[in-house]
Amino acid sequence: MWTKACIFDLDGVIVDTAKYHFQAWKRLTDEFGITFTEKDNERLKGVSRMASLDIILEIGGKKLDMSEKTGLADMKNKWYVDRINRMTPAEILPGTLEFINELRRNDVKIALGSASRNTPMILERVGIKNVFDAVADGNTVHKAKPDPEVFLKAAELLGIETARCVVFEDALAGVEAALNAGMICIGIGDKKILKDAHMVVRGLYEMDLNKLIILEKKLGYEHLI
Ligand code: G6P
Ligand code: MG
Repeated sequence: MWTKACIFDLDGVIVDTAKYHFQAWKRLTDEFGITFTEKDNERLKGVSRMASLDIILEIGGKKLDMSEKTGLADMKNKWYVDRINRMTPAEILPGTLEFINELRRNDVKIALGSASRNTPMILERVGIKNVFDAVADGNTVHKAKPDPEVFLKAAELLGIETARCVVFEDALAGVEAALNAGMICIGIGDKKILKDAHMVVRGLYEMDLNKLIILEKKLGYEHLI
């Protein structure tokens, strides 16, 4: 097959940590009298911690200096970490391990590409840190999605050419990042939102190797092998 590696985003693809991010941001916005809704939270998906805070302050019409912002981001992260510290393997989203195992059996490399600096802790808590051949995350990469850096880094760590990597992403910024990297992108979520992705499924439970091969054919890659 054409695909040599699959790169997975973490939050919203492998685990549903968006709800924990929301709870922690909500605690912060409540303290500051900023109205922050689940709809606003959609804008934070795939966006780095500081950029998320900037969006929240913009919603609340507040201007703070860098040291105040760092203090708030640290506080939010402490609450978030308190929660993810209690995550268990039961929180891995349905179909994830089955699909990854099928890919592995077919010699496809597996990598993680996430903006989160808490990636190592989450992988550890849900017990999948050994599943990945490479991990590129917010600790090693600094340009936020839609910049392609995180996915290019994952491909580089794997030693696989970018055109033969497939990215799985739930965030609009992440889909753009994958396309900017010149990779195939499969969206996880709503077709109407992730319309630029090459294909969209509701969750990894809907994915299997056969669907990937059909997509490769549709995109015309089988002629290149
Ligand atoms: C992911 C999430 C974002 C989050 C970012 C940084 O991309 O989708 O909502 O802001 O990671 O996460 P961190 O754990 O470093 O605060
Ligand atoms: Mg995500």
